[in-house]
Order: sequence, then C-alpha cells, then structure tokens
Amino acid sequence: MSGNIWSALATQAKQQGSLRQAFADDPSRANRFSVSACDILLDYSKNLIDDTSWALLQDFAQHSPIKTALNSMLAGDKINNTEQRAVGHMLLRKADLSSVSLDNGLAIGKCEVSAEIIACKEQMANLVSQLHAGDYLGFNGQVITDVIWIGIGGSLLGPQMAVEALTPYHCSPVQVHFVGNIDPVVVTDTLAQLKPATTLVCVASKSFSTEETIQNALLVRQWFTDHGADTAAINQHFWAATSNLSAAAEFGIPAQHILPLWDWVGGRFSIWSAIGLPVAIMIGNDNFTQLLAGGEAMDQHFVQTPFTDNMPVILALLGIWYINGFGCQTQAILPYSHYLRLLPSYVQQLDMESNGKSIKADGHSVSYATAPVIWGDAGTNGQHAYHQLLHQSSLIVPADFILAITPQHQHKEQHQRLAAHCFAQTQALMQGKTFTEAYQECLAEGMDSEQAAALAVHKVSAGNKPSNTLLLPTLSPYYLGSLIALYEHKIFCQGILWQINSFDQWGVELGKQLSKPILQALQGDTNQALDSSTQGLIQHFMQRYTL
Ligand code: F6P
Repeated sequence: MSGNIWSALATQAKQQGSLRQAFADDPSRANRFSVSACDILLDYSKNLIDDTSWALLQDFAQHSPIKTALNSMLAGDKINNTEQRAVGHMLLRKADLSSVSLDNGLAIGKCEVSAEIIACKEQMANLVSQLHAGDYLGFNGQVITDVIWIGIGGSLLGPQMAVEALTPYHCSPVQVHFVGNIDPVVVTDTLAQLKPATTLVCVASKSFSTEETIQNALLVRQWFTDHGADTAAINQHFWAATSNLSAAAEFGIPAQHILPLWDWVGGRFSIWSAIGLPVAIMIGNDNFTQLLAGGEAMDQHFVQTPFTDNMPVILALLGIWYINGFGCQTQAILPYSHYLRLLPSYVQQLDMESNGKSIKADGHSVSYATAPVIWGDAGTNGQHAYHQLLHQSSLIVPADFILAITPQHQHKEQHQRLAAHCFAQTQALMQGKTFTEAYQECLAEGMDSEQAAALAVHKVSAGNKPSNTLLLPTLSPYYLGSLIALYEHKIFCQGILWQINSFDQWGVELGKQLSKPILQALQGDTNQALDSSTQGLIQHFMQRYTL
C-alpha cells in the first residue's frame, strides 16, 4: 500500500463529489464523521471525504508504523536518529511516574528520570509559591513583582501562548514579561517598565547558546550592573531553564537557580517542562498541574484508541489527504477565541519545524510534499481580512476552527454571536452559494434580471472547501493541555507517515552560520567572501547606518 499511496491519494482526491450533496444524501454524515476525546468534539464531516477515501486513508494508517513508532517513543528509543536522542515529552505530563517504563534510551536511567522530573517540578512549584507569597526578595530586600522570561522559539512560544490563553486563570501578584527577538527594542521597552530591585530574570534556553537569548540576557545583566547591582545581587535575581548546566553556570547562574531540561525534550515540545514556568507563575501550581493532566488525558486517548476513533490520527490523515491528495500547501488554524490568538504561531513552530523537511529519517529524499505552511489568527478578525480568499479563490485551504463552548465571562449573547460566526464560516465554506441562489437574492433586493445576472456571478462561492471544527468545553488549563497534546500527536503521526524525523531541525542552522561572517562584514571586516547581492546590501546598509 504505502509504495503507491501517494498516487492512490491523488487519484482518489479527483473522485470526491460535492460536500453539499453529501450532506443532503446522508443525514447521519455529521455523526459518522465526528469523534470525541477528553470531552473535546472534533466534527470532521465538512471534509472532502467519502466512505471510499476515508477507508483508503484509514488503511494507510493501519498499515503504517505509527503504533510501532509510538511504542518506540514510549520505550525511550532514540527515535530522533540524527541527534541520537529519545523523545520523552509525554513523560513530563505523567501524574504518576512510578509506572514509567521508559528506561533504555534516555541519557539517564529510569529511576533517575523520574526523580529528576519530580525534583524539577518541586523546584518550579517552590519558586511559584515563593513568588505568590511575596517571599522572594530582591537584592535590597524588596519583594519581587516582575519576571523577565528570556527565550526564543520553543523556549518562548509555548509559555507565551498558554499565558495568554489562560488569562482568566491569572492569579499571580507577579507579572511575567517575555523577551524573545534580538531586536533590542523588545528588551529596552520591557526594561523601561521595570526596576532591577524587584525583577527576577529567567534565561530559558535548552542549549544555552542561542544568540538571541544570550544577547538579551547580557543586556539585562548589564542593566542590573548599571543600577549598582554587584555579582551577589545579580545571582539573587537570575535563574535559568536549560539542559546545558555548565554554560548556565559559566554565565553566572547559581546552581540552585538552574531548572534542568533534558536532551530528550525537544524545544517545541517543552511547555510541559521548566519552560512552562511562566504559565505556572501566572495561573498557579494547581492550574499548571491541570494543564499537564489535560495533556496526559490526550496521551491516553492517543495510545489506547483504535485509529478509526483516534483524534490525532484522524487529524493527521486529513492533513495528509489535502497535502498529498489535493496538492494543498497551507493549513489555517483559526481559533474563535481572542485568548487563543497565539495558537497559530505556536502550531506553526510545532508543525513546520517538525515536519518541514524533504529528507526522510533514513537519509533519502522524499518524493512527495510534507508539512504545510501553517497560518491563521483569531476569529472573527480573520473574516474581515483573509476569509474572502478562503471562500472565493481557487485555492483549497483546509482550516481548523476552534471554539470553547462555555466562556469565562458573563456576556452570553456576545459569545453566541462568536459561535454563530464560527459555525457559519464552516457552513459557508462547505456549501458555498450557487448562481441561482445569488441571482434570486439579487432579484429579491429589487434588481432587474439583467442587473441580477451581472452581479450574481460575483456572488457565487464554489463551496466544497474543507474544515474541521474542534469544540472545547471551555478554555481551561486542562482542555488547553489536551489541545496542545492533540496537535503534538497529529504532527508525530504525520512525521511517521511521511517517514521523516519530526524531532530535529537542521534547516535552521545554515542561517545561523551565515550570520557570523555577515556580522563581521558589518563590523568592518572586508575579507569576507560574499555573493554580490549580500555584499551590495551590506555596503548599502553601512553607507547609511548612523547611530
Ligand atoms: O533555532 C531553532 C531552535 O533551535 C528551536 O528548535 C528552539 O526551540 C529554539 O531554537 C530555541 O533554542 P534554545 O532553547 O536552545 O535556546
């Protein structure tokens, strides 16, 4: 099957009929193509699938190594083969680590893994409790009121998204500020609001070598020094979350202020680790535990449920269906929730950094497309921006619509309006508007038949545009945890089906390497051999650069 699956998908895609007709013909369609996991409903009935294509996709999954790969991941095998690392982020959300069977592939043995995870969680929880109680004092005895979290990529996107998503759960007297970009306006704007004496700093970098993070950390440390802080004072205010203990120590972070990460936690899967500290600070320890519990509940669903009802597998198959069957190149993530507005950026890294590859795990090139471009924003804002293209362009853009049923506010009618727009968009994408419907609409508005016919052609929407709808009971820490784990597992399944290693990211290295000689050229070194475009840009920049 998998030998010719790609051509089978493309052939089958051409046979798909009208979705509007499929709903008319089968009143049970929504029921048949819906599934629940962790109280989250996924309605995938508005996809371009029929019984034949769905059977083909399910067959693809059944005959794939998804189960074997999952078992390898759970057993601690080094499935990140290019870095020779196990992939253990699921361990971090396990409430009961006594049943951990993961012992053969991790850098440290079974017992030590459990003990280290527990110790790290305790260290985090103690820090959160101290901050909440106002017991953490700065160098001149004042209570800490602010935390600067310095990190980028996986060391920033997760906590930033989750802190925003869980705004109604904020219960912290301490405010967290995120600093990521190397553009110094971020750090200077942040520092302008703060006082060193009441500010704690956490340098979050798994590698402790990421240029952006180290440069920002140096600027913040300089800010402390400029305000009269000596080494002992700085020690009191600086923490780190890292797997590179020696580099953090060399930077000057005291050992007792280092929250450990492990090489078996990928950056984009690290929200469950010490990288989740900003979330724990903002929502408190109990709520952070709920986030982990929601993630673990989705793990159990993924591990235990047959593929026919397995939500991550279903989402993975649908994604592959559009990419490899229909040639779609993008996937929209559309949370109908202002608080979830950073979810598209988060999933962007999770998906594109994991599966945006054209070399298989075995080193051979793929002969098919892999990860889509992930994009999106909060609804309803997008309806007044890019939804025009979703409805009427010739592109097919599969979209995930995400809505929390019960809001955390009292504005019931406004929430119903938000939900109405969410559902209406998926309906409009699915059914479209025919010429006859548009024409009748124009006549009803008082146009004569000529005017009506002329305008109606512009009002036609082809329909047949696919979407998933995910309904969360509410946007709580628990369901957010489940939602994040859902996307993690979807992406894992797709990586297996595409035969790629979802856990490395070699593609980001070249740009990092090339920036070094360019920086030297920008600093006056004329001996760098550069192409004429890059050379020209540098010259143009330097001739006009004033400070
Ligand atoms: O450059 C990409 C990347 O390596 C991501 O994978 C990672 O999440 C991010 O940089 C930050 O890395 P670190 O946590 O090591 O600073």
